[in-house]
Amino acid sequence: MWDPQQYEHFRDARKRPFFELLARVPVSAPRFVADLGCGTGDLTLTLAERWPGSRLSGVDSSEPMISEALRRPAPAHVRFELADLARWQPDAPLDVLVSNAALHWLPGHEALLSRLVGLLAPGGVLAFQVPANFEESSHRRIDEVRALPRFAPALASVRRGHAESLAFYEAHLSGLGLSVDAWETAYLHVLPGEDAVLQWLLGTTLRPVLAALGPGEEQAFLDTLRPLLRQDYPAAAHGTPFLFRRRFVVAVRPS
Ligand SMILES: C[S@@+](CC[C@H](N)C(=O)[O-])C[C@H]1O[C@@H](n2cnc3c(N)ncnc32)[C@H](O)[C@@H]1O
Repeated sequence: MWDPQQYEHFRDARKRPFFELLARVPVSAPRFVADLGCGTGDLTLTLAERWPGSRLSGVDSSEPMISEALRRPAPAHVRFELADLARWQPDAPLDVLVSNAALHWLPGHEALLSRLVGLLAPGGVLAFQVPANFEESSHRRIDEVRALPRFAPALASVRRGHAESLAFYEAHLSGLGLSVDAWETAYLHVLPGEDAVLQWLLGTTLRPVLAALGPGEEQAFLDTLRPLLRQDYPAAAHGTPFLFRRRFVVAVRPS
């Protein structure tokens, strides 16, 4: 379902939140670090540079993404694994658990976060970032096309991404005894190229939708969506402005 090349298209804009998240992780020498939903692994490898003395696991449930990660030259203390992060079990408690732009694909954040906190060592840090763009025009337009009789039956069981509120994350994680730093940032990306917002969505949000439609209906879906996005996101001479909100949480387990 995932296409590493399409995902890498807007790499710089997608990287920035990862570094803004990691800048708030107050750990100098962790023993064991995991990056859950690590994708193509390039950001995981920046963790290996930051913490050269730590063991590092990158985990992703997509075969093409993990294959891409495995192709990268990596130091011996880095390992990439194909697994569902909701079930993945590390062989030792984690000092840092990072998840960038992945948890919104999973349902049930209350139970999921309780489970992830249970994987942390005393003093361990859970740091995650999720898109919070689901009410923006781009997503509403996708929903509108999904609901058309031509596409709705094939897409009925395809989940939308979902993020809880900052208040929810703060309340749940502090209820589990962690100290929580939570914030939201809105990025105004100016995307280059033609149909830039569609190209952006093709890297992430549209992947499960197109996979469920299959090649026959994929083109018809995109042909219906494209003019709606052009209307809502007109291209300027210098690019297409695209507002994107993201939520960040860094939570520290007591020692
Ligand atoms: C938007 S990409 C983010 C990749 C990487 N973290 C980054 O910031 O570049 C989302 C990734 O989450 C992965 N993912 C989604 N659901 C997952 C699950 N249940 N278990 C593991 N990985 C998952 C996808 O395969 C995809 O590689």
